[in-house]
Amino acid sequence: MKTTKTSSTDWSDPISLLVLDTVLSVSPSWLSPGTSVTLSCEVEHSSAGWRFYWYKTVPDLSGTSYSYELLPGSINGTEQDSYMIHGKTQTAGFTCRAGRGDPEYYTYYSDPKFVWSGGQSASASLTVNPDTVQHFGSKSASLRCDGNSTKWRVSRFTDDGFQRQCFFWGTMNGSTCNLNWMWYGNVVYWCESGSAFSNAVNITGQYNDGIILVSPVHPVTEGDSVTLGCKLRTQNVLSNVFFYKDNKLIQNDSRGEMSISAVSESDEGFYKCQYSGKESPQSWMAVKSSSSENSSFPVLLITGLVCGVLLIILLLLLCCYKQSKGEKFSDQFKITDVFLLLLINAVATEEFEIHKTC
Ligand SMILES: *[C@@H]1O[C@H](CO)[C@@H](O)[C@H](O)[C@H]1NC(C)=O
Ligand SMILES: *[C@@H]1O[C@H](CO)[C@@H](O)[C@H](O)[C@H]1NC(C)=O
Ligand SMILES: *[C@@H]1O[C@H](CO)[C@@H](O)[C@H](O)[C@H]1NC(C)=O
Ligand SMILES: *[C@@H]1O[C@H](CO)[C@@H](O)[C@H](O)[C@H]1NC(C)=O
Repeated sequence: MKTTKTSSTDWSDPISLLVLDTVLSVSPSWLSPGTSVTLSCEVEHSSAGWRFYWYKTVPDLSGTSYSYELLPGSINGTEQDSYMIHGKTQTAGFTCRAGRGDPEYYTYYSDPKFVWSGGQSASASLTVNPDTVQHFGSKSASLRCDGNSTKWRVSRFTDDGFQRQCFFWGTMNGSTCNLNWMWYGNVVYWCESGSAFSNAVNITGQYNDGIILVSPVHPVTEGDSVTLGCKLRTQNVLSNVFFYKDNKLIQNDSRGEMSISAVSESDEGFYKCQYSGKESPQSWMAVKSSSSENSSFPVLLITGLVCGVLLIILLLLLCCYKQSKGEKFSDQFKITDVFLLLLINAVATEEFEIHKTC
């Protein structure tokens, strides 16, 4: 993809004759509450003197591509080759490019990279049928997009590093993408509309002579029940299945399923099943907090209350202290004075600490 840059006048720098490629990396790949996302941009075969431009990708539904919108603070580029994003909760795509010289010449835009969220949003969601992470490659499945849009595109990112839309590997019917066979390996799927990205899901394709774990595609809410199963291509396995979590055997009996009646945070992890010498791939079961949306509310309320009460105590103490100061030469009041001074000191220090955290 390199071409000669004919408009350049700086013939002494051979690098400037080429349009260079950039590679963007995004970390982490999956969002969890409170994590920041770091974008890093690298210009291939070149390092010094670049300014970096950061963009978010906006799906262009007239085709299979994206348009790019500059991220805040990068209109003039950044000297740093990394860019931090705070408070992201939904799936999003990014790209970068670099520029240098006067007049400035630019590298190509990097391939888009994504940060995925498993959490559903009101404006876009993806559902998988059948609802299980692992699928046999030869079986069909469908991916449905719902939400605040009439036009959708389904994207996937395969474990060989390629991103492609349903157009290339399935058939779009309305807002559903139908697949006649699955990719053998790990894939992330998500929906895109003109304005929104949906939650993303992991799907793993398995060979026909193997065995699959049946586990939910979406994160399980704390307190809900969940049942994991094990399946051969032709039938469900109904007995004597071993279940493993994070490579440790957790159920070894005559049952064919494993049930958790009330899921807790500690149940999150990688699961797999084993039956008659066959072992499934392992899949991540995500657990989401039942109060994740309003978890910051009680914290704020309690901090506010504590600050308020401390302020009142401080005022009362100051008041008493002033009154007592009038009564000089009384032993009783001297002792109270010292005691009050110590208290005020302690409260004031604590108040200061809390203000720092508030
Ligand atoms: C997908 O799998 C990765 C690990 O491979 C995990 O970190 C992520 O949370 C999973 N996403 C969902 C929605 O389960
Ligand atoms: C749905 O889309 C409309 C128009 O695009 C927008 O004004 C509205 O805020 C969206 N609603 C949600 C829940 O995203
Ligand atoms: C598309 O989906 C509709 C309703 O789900 C169905 O009736 C129709 O046959 C489908 N079209 C194709 C081409 O499969
Ligand atoms: C499961 O339990 C049986 C009987 O208790 C034992 O013989 C077998 O080795 C166990 N399997 C594994 C994989 O630990």
